Amino acid sequence: MRTINLIAAVDEEFGFGKDGKIPWHYPEDLKFFKEKTKGHVCIMGRKTFDDLLTYAKGKHVLPGRQCIVVTSTHLELGERPNAMSIREMEEWKYNNVHEVKTVSDALNISRNMPGDVFFIGGERIFASGLNMADCVYLTMIPGKHGCDRFFPHEKLRNSYQIYNKREGGDGLVFHTYVHNIFGSKNPHN
Ligand SMILES: NC(=O)c1ccc[n+]([C@@H]2O[C@H](COP(=O)([O-])OP(=O)(O)OC[C@H]3O[C@@H](n4cnc5c(N)ncnc54)[C@H](OP(=O)(O)O)[C@@H]3O)[C@@H](O)[C@H]2O)c1
Repeated sequence: MRTINLIAAVDEEFGFGKDGKIPWHYPEDLKFFKEKTKGHVCIMGRKTFDDLLTYAKGKHVLPGRQCIVVTSTHLELGERPNAMSIREMEEWKYNNVHEVKTVSDALNISRNMPGDVFFIGGERIFASGLNMADCVYLTMIPGKHGCDRFFPHEKLRNSYQIYNKREGGDGLVFHTYVHNIFGSKNPHN
């Protein structure tokens, strides 16, 4: 059965972004993100996509995954530095990128794609995802990083319970939460 999931890394203030970037770099967390999302569908806001474009450096954005980007405009338009040209948009290297106007549209087109669904940020996408995710993967990053984007942790506390907690290196802690409707059962079984 297809599951809906949310994955994020947050600091001690539940911040997850600053000035359009992630203000930390932990390879172990990036590896975890890749392992969890590979082969699946990632739903994201346009600014998260812009940030990922920077890392892609002209190559695939999140290779091996289908990226659904929610935007009120078009990815190839706009003044921002990473805006794609129409030609780029058409090139094969971006053939895993899909543009939609709403989160409902994202869920609708994801039904025709293989794999599970992951809400990967930012703020509004996390808020929408928390209404419906079966599972939430939350990496706790040590310290406070002066973030300007925050995870809706009240909603997490109210509707989810901790299923698993694992300590990684460098003070990282990997939490898995499951929606209260599952009790102590794993929704992946
Ligand atoms: N630590 C982590 O796990 C993590 C994960 C992801 C991102 N980040 C960070 O988070 C920051 C970006 O997050 P953000 O909250 O600023 O932005 P975002 O959600 O990535 O993007 C916001 C944009 O997405 C579009 N959008 C989002 N929800 C929409 C909706 N329901 N309907 C229509 N359009 C919608 C709009 O695009 P238009 O303006 O084009 O209409 C909006 O301006 C960056 O700093 C990034 O590095 C961190």
